[in-house]
Amino acid sequence: MAKTKIVTIANQKGGVGKTTTVINLGHGLAQMGKNVLVVDLDPQGQCATSLGMKPEEGAYYLLTMGVKPQETQFIKQYVRNTGRDNLWLIPGDQTTNAAQTVINAREYPVSWIRETLARFTSNGHLDYIILDTAPSVGGIQERALWAADLAVIPSSTEYLATDGVKKVARTLVSLQREKGWQGALIGVLPTMFRGQLNEHKASIDELNKGFPGKVLEPIHRATTLSECPGEAKTIFKKDPESRSADEYSAFVKEVYRY
Ligand SMILES: Nc1ncnc2c1ncn2[C@@H]1O[C@H](COP(=O)(O)OP(=O)(O)O)[C@@H](O)[C@H]1O
Ligand SMILES: [Mg+2]
Repeated sequence: MAKTKIVTIANQKGGVGKTTTVINLGHGLAQMGKNVLVVDLDPQGQCATSLGMKPEEGAYYLLTMGVKPQETQFIKQYVRNTGRDNLWLIPGDQTTNAAQTVINAREYPVSWIRETLARFTSNGHLDYIILDTAPSVGGIQERALWAADLAVIPSSTEYLATDGVKKVARTLVSLQREKGWQGALIGVLPTMFRGQLNEHKASIDELNKGFPGKVLEPIHRATTLSECPGEAKTIFKKDPESRSADEYSAFVKEVYRY
């Protein structure tokens, strides 16, 4: 029985391509025949809208309910069929903010998100669970990183944006050293890349310096990618022959190989 891998996509910054990466990674793996569950832990609920679905309070219940069989049954009602083979979604919405408050008030351990996801990993039906996260401090993001077998940090090359990357990387190091995190960083994924611009090249150089050997092949800035959420399509459906599809496909294979 294959082990379910949890993949967490995180950055302290918004607008760096986290949700775009989650959706396309999820669909890419699903198209390879893997069973994939995307869980939207960002209160903005954009995983749902990007897939043409409605934001709902699934993440809230996942994060706040216990692990009794009847609670699991309740939470499983929120596992939505995305209308794409092998790809499911637990949608989130603004109630995820309240879950963050509950988690902090009840002082749930750093292992909590991994524990609440165990109901989906224990039977081996799923190959991957992909967590989209919000740029928040502590709370959900920290627990989502601790839950990860594999972590990816997308980073826009539009500015020297290594700050947000470094914060997540520092969190990972402290989770590893102090809290027994067992996962691995697949790498930093440069996004919105424009190779003809010096700032963008400088940004890649800086990432390479900060994360030697851990900088993945960049995803170029492309209008077609920015049009995907509005059309509720992944790049593999919207524009399968595009460079963007090739780039995300290469990223999917990178994660698959890990
Ligand atoms: N490589 C890209 N080229 C152009 N637009 C992009 C690219 N990646 C993401 N976008 C767009 O940029 C915006 C922010 O991306 P998103 O994935 O929502 O970031 P985050 O989840 O980190 O906030 C969205 O409108 C998205 O469609
Ligand atoms: Mg997002």
